[in-house]
Amino acid sequence: MTNNSHDIIGGTRFSGGSARSFLSSMDVDHHIFEADILVDLAHVTMLAEEDIISKTDAKAIIDGLFSIYEAGFEHLPSAEDIHAAIETELVNKIGEAGGRMHTARSRNDEVSTCIRYQLRNDILSLINSVLSLQEVILSTAKNHTTTIIPGFTHLQNAQPTTLSHWLLSYYSSLERDIQRFFDVYNRINLSPLGSAAFAGTPFPINREKTATLLGFSGIIENTMDAVSSRDFLLESAASLCSLSITFSNISNDLIFYSNKNYVDIDDDYASTSSIMPQKKNPDTLELIRAASATTLATFSGTFATLKGLPRAYNRDLQSATPYIWNSTEKMLESANILSKIIETSIWNAELLLSSAGDGFSTATGVADTLTMAGIPFRKAHQIVAKSESNYEDIASNFNTIMGSPMDEFCTQDLIESALDPIKNVNMRDSLGGPSPRIVLDSISNAKIGLDSNFKLHTTYKNQIEQSKEELIREARAYLK
Ligand code: ARG
Repeated sequence: MTNNSHDIIGGTRFSGGSARSFLSSMDVDHHIFEADILVDLAHVTMLAEEDIISKTDAKAIIDGLFSIYEAGFEHLPSAEDIHAAIETELVNKIGEAGGRMHTARSRNDEVSTCIRYQLRNDILSLINSVLSLQEVILSTAKNHTTTIIPGFTHLQNAQPTTLSHWLLSYYSSLERDIQRFFDVYNRINLSPLGSAAFAGTPFPINREKTATLLGFSGIIENTMDAVSSRDFLLESAASLCSLSITFSNISNDLIFYSNKNYVDIDDDYASTSSIMPQKKNPDTLELIRAASATTLATFSGTFATLKGLPRAYNRDLQSATPYIWNSTEKMLESANILSKIIETSIWNAELLLSSAGDGFSTATGVADTLTMAGIPFRKAHQIVAKSESNYEDIASNFNTIMGSPMDEFCTQDLIESALDPIKNVNMRDSLGGPSPRIVLDSISNAKIGLDSNFKLHTTYKNQIEQSKEELIREARAYLK
């Protein structure tokens, strides 16, 4: 970055002095470099179309903007922020005409538009990575419909289930996470551009035009709201928090399962100890688990920054933005790595099966079997609660509590079936349950949802791409 002492906006008076770097957002503004150039192009194209600036000036500005973009962020002069840096560089390059770019706008509407533009892309990238993770989860679930695993509540053996059922539980959580992102996306995808400082402008601007050129689905009408509001950051942060909890929970399960040797995490996603040579530790999963701290910091940081701000723009808002970039990056990385971990993990089906009945986890199935034979569930619960995990003991307690032999109600075969983890799971074929037959249904239902989410993602992505092409085409038309 070139090191001038002032930028075109502050001049020599407001050059920042010893607070210059403190005032500046340049250290994070690389996130919105491309967005800012596109926002500038859209604004200038509209200004020329509405005859607010001449076609000749528009040509010079657009030409300058393209060359600034090609030179890259690193070649911008030092400035209070990226908006000042680009404008300074533009005036350096093309002279006086560059000073017309900022007609009918302010950095306040500009920055909000840039953040929305970039965040929209980031949310779509994240959606795509989470959909890919769901795809991996589904294909793993398909391979493990009959892999019986111990299921836990309170981290105590509870009931046997299938590996597919466990995987699908996370598929469903991720599905809601994705819905939240799509929902938030629609509120991010609105243009504040043309609001100027907060109070509109006397120039005959066309806000719909810039919104369309930038691929926004509409505008934020009230100009004071448009520059002051960052609730889109807060709800994005909340959605990121929720996703990070899903990731954290999957990671924690995998860490626990690998502790039990139920699963072997690929070496690429593990680490070792500098002193204990035998160690293989699930460090990558621990970092994904810890990423929820980053998203919570984003949420609380954004919340605390926004709370109590007066209308309209305040520089506090500059501090809110970096939080979101931290979390979108962290969650994107986490999603991609988690996909790889699940794809490459090896499940120890034999050990899982032999552990599935631990702690008399088949007990509920036995109580259900007795209940199906006509015993009130509460009585069946009492009988099984007193029993060890074998037919004889259950029969003897039945006799004591019910005062009649168990085989008058229920065959030994039925009880033995309930005691067998595989048959115990097969019994549980209620909607959304773990039996292999039912998880297959759940997998096909999930596949339908996944395909439609991929389609929606592609539609949004294409809308952005097409509007970007159209914007560049319209801007380039001035260069002829
Ligand atoms: N860098 C600033 C931000 O991120 C841009 C807006 C500056 N506006 C102002 N009135 N000082 O919010």
